[in-house]
Amino acid sequence: MSEDAAPPADGPVPVTVTVNDLPRTLLVEPDAMLLGVLRDQLGLTGAKPACEVGVCGACTVLVDGEPTSSCHTFAALVDGRDVRTVESLAADPELQSLQEAFVADGAFQCGFCTSGQLMSAASLVLSGRLVEATDEEIRSYMLGNLCRCGAYYGIARALDRFRSGSAADPAEPAR
Ligand code: FES
Repeated sequence: MSEDAAPPADGPVPVTVTVNDLPRTLLVEPDAMLLGVLRDQLGLTGAKPACEVGVCGACTVLVDGEPTSSCHTFAALVDGRDVRTVESLAADPELQSLQEAFVADGAFQCGFCTSGQLMSAASLVLSGRLVEATDEEIRSYMLGNLCRCGAYYGIARALDRFRSGSAADPAEPAR
């Protein structure tokens, strides 16, 4: 899904979409990007604007379970789809433990890329692919999420921790 398939620009269009399990009906401009609608109309600011051209992954959300650059996706094109943002992870005990693994393993520094990293990792978990994936496959899957702070080693450790089911000890300092 990309801006290549722009709907005709002829005034705001209605969009019915499920966002974090809540049905929403929105009026969006035909050229509005999903990222802006999530942040400005719905107040969901977890997905971050960064490169604005769909290459860095900071704005990653799940659309029908697939990691999607929301800065590069027309909001009008998610009509009828299911969208999940990082804000939804806290309500899911399994995905909450994924977030805890990121904290325990120091999988971030400035944190700007973290919501996107988490959403790509969450799609691996939700699809069941994380269990069988090799380290190489995981690295390859996460390639669309850049980290300017170079926290890749911590991210890999966090995914390993999550996959092995080892609980994060709240008293344990991040490595
Ligand atoms: Fe700073 Fe990834 S933690 S960009």
